[in-house]
Amino acid sequence: MTRMRSWLFVPGDSEKKAAKAAQSGADVLIFDLEDSVATARKDAARRMVADIVARRETREWSLWVRVNPFDGTLTAADLDAVIRPGLDGVLLPKPEGGPDVARLADQIASRETAAGMNHGSVKIAVVATETPTAVFALGSYVPAHSRLAAMTWGAEDLAAAVGATSNRDDAGHFTPPYKLVRNLALLAAAAAGTAPIDTLHADFRDLAGLEADCRASRRDGFVGRLAIHPNQIEVINRCYAPSEKELAWARRIVNAFAADPTAGTLGMDGKMIDRPHLIAARRTLNL
Ligand code: COA
Ligand code: MG
Repeated sequence: MTRMRSWLFVPGDSEKKAAKAAQSGADVLIFDLEDSVATARKDAARRMVADIVARRETREWSLWVRVNPFDGTLTAADLDAVIRPGLDGVLLPKPEGGPDVARLADQIASRETAAGMNHGSVKIAVVATETPTAVFALGSYVPAHSRLAAMTWGAEDLAAAVGATSNRDDAGHFTPPYKLVRNLALLAAAAAGTAPIDTLHADFRDLAGLEADCRASRRDGFVGRLAIHPNQIEVINRCYAPSEKELAWARRIVNAFAADPTAGTLGMDGKMIDRPHLIAARRTLNL
């Protein structure tokens, strides 16, 4: 299984950051062609990212690209530049719902064929909550498109669209509207059977805050998290990997049911174990 714990954004026009990101230990690098690249630099960024895809060196990380959204006119040229052998996935910002995944999939498919790639090799992820309309369409990702590999959410563009003066309270925690959206995004990803990826921790010097956030996030079911700085990767990778203790517990549950296949429920260490625990245990072992 491809690892998806840490997804590091790299501005698509920075050679220096690209080199640094490749050494960061991140599971996924997302070369950005959207908000971190100025309009005048879009072409230079497309060329740089296309070169990185074309290198096809052995990599420890998956190579994704965040394209520009469908509300502008840049998406097609982004896809023209980067759909080449070596590309693992495309992250779509500001989708309005499931139909945008199908639309992107169509645009990927023709270019995939033209590039001599196997149909379906380029996966899709979405930033599912960047507009208020999109929040009400979270259920529309079900049934999931076969290319949809992950769903994440964002609070910055949404706050701007809503007109919030801030999406955080004085203690630095998300305010209720953004907690609601986080929780809905998690459930939407689960409903679609795709990986829920938590949003970024913008204060990249605050590693203690990041760690606390990651623990709560993994507890709730997120399997990974966006990052914006290489310093965040170690914490993220550690927090989203199951601990030895969790793995041992999961193995005991799987083994106990294997040893007694007709049992619906079992007692272990004084706790009732039944089907949901078995599903959770298998999931832990899969991570
Ligand atoms: N990927 C790769 N390298 C990065 C990086 C990233 N996302 N963020 C920082 N670095 C590098 C810097 O270039 C710097 O390298 P150097 O030591 O060789 O000079 C080093 O890490 C330390 O960086 P630092 O000085 O702490 O931060 P900064 O002020 O240079 O950069 C940001 C801060 C926010 C501009 C930068 O982290 C960044 O570009 N993040 C990604 C932004 C993005 O893609 N946003 C879109 C999604 S929201
Ligand atoms: Mg944005």
